[in-house]
Amino acid sequence: MTRIDLTEDLSFSRLIYGMWRLADDADTSADHVRAKMDACLEQGITTFDQADIYGGFQCEDVMGGAFKADPSLRDKVEIITKCGILFPADKVPDVRVKHYNTSRAHILKSVDNSLKAMSIDYLDMLLIHRPDPFMDFNETGAALDEVVQSGKVRAVGVSNFKISDWSALQMTMDTKLMANQIEISLLESSSFRNGDLVDIAADNMLPMAWSPLAGGGLFTDKHKALFDKLKVIGAQYDVDASAVAIAWILAHPSNILPVLGTNNLERIRSLGDALKVEMDRQTWYELYESANGHEVP
Ligand SMILES: NC(=O)c1ccc[n+]([C@@H]2O[C@H](COP(=O)([O-])OP(=O)(O)OC[C@H]3O[C@@H](n4cnc5c(N)ncnc54)[C@H](OP(=O)(O)O)[C@@H]3O)[C@@H](O)[C@H]2O)c1
Repeated sequence: MTRIDLTEDLSFSRLIYGMWRLADDADTSADHVRAKMDACLEQGITTFDQADIYGGFQCEDVMGGAFKADPSLRDKVEIITKCGILFPADKVPDVRVKHYNTSRAHILKSVDNSLKAMSIDYLDMLLIHRPDPFMDFNETGAALDEVVQSGKVRAVGVSNFKISDWSALQMTMDTKLMANQIEISLLESSSFRNGDLVDIAADNMLPMAWSPLAGGGLFTDKHKALFDKLKVIGAQYDVDASAVAIAWILAHPSNILPVLGTNNLERIRSLGDALKVEMDRQTWYELYESANGHEVP
């Protein structure tokens, strides 16, 4: 598995395993979570993506079961988590309306909650989950600097941000924002055209792709023609259609890190197949045009 360096002493695996759906699995035992993490580690996938809100504020706890059972696991992985979204749930009884909170108090509390939930003592990366229309850039920027200076967080970044959002935040900060996690897949390819990936690269940030298989949407009848093309290409490399869809993202020159979300252990075991596929320019465009339903102009 190739790796991407963020700093001299922090790197992420090219494929990231995302835990949004962890609590949807019928088996949320620590053993099963560990089996999923081991299946990733065996392929060199060491980076795991979380958020405080996943599974109705449960997924960090579910993952924490694996760290509690074997604290030595922490040294083998990198953990990304996010904060800033709140919605009514049992764990947050004072929240009555879905909203964003990027205040200093919330960021500091959220980092402490995430560390406690996962039974770990530092995060490799904290992302502000979504741009907050009520954000006080000076306050949020200072809070992000503070969590890094405290040693609780090694790196910070954003998610679903446009350049105007992160530039205003970055200007207030000493710490560099290192990543922007956005939705990218064959079915959501607007970032290849609207300047988002160009802006991310120009600011020397790492692009991460959430829902790289369109949350499973690629496998529905609506996209059968595209799925069939993916299968035909996959057959040449003895991999399945999903590996080709991920290879399509990996092939892009902007070094995108896909964040994959399957709960299926067999599928997790073959996530690394995406790296076996060599995608030339014309195949990339063949899939892009099939997904868009028309040729490029
Ligand atoms: N920053 C953000 O705002 C944001 C938003 C959303 C997600 N994320 C991150 O991105 C991660 C991935 O998101 P995602 O789960 O939507 O990613 P995804 O990998 O695009 O989709 C996973 C879904 O596709 C299904 N699937 C995968 N392979 C399949 C196949 N071969 N055939 C049929 N179905 C298949 C999975 O079902 P099975 O489980 O049955 O395999 C699962 O329901 C999340 O875990 C989270 O970490 C971030």
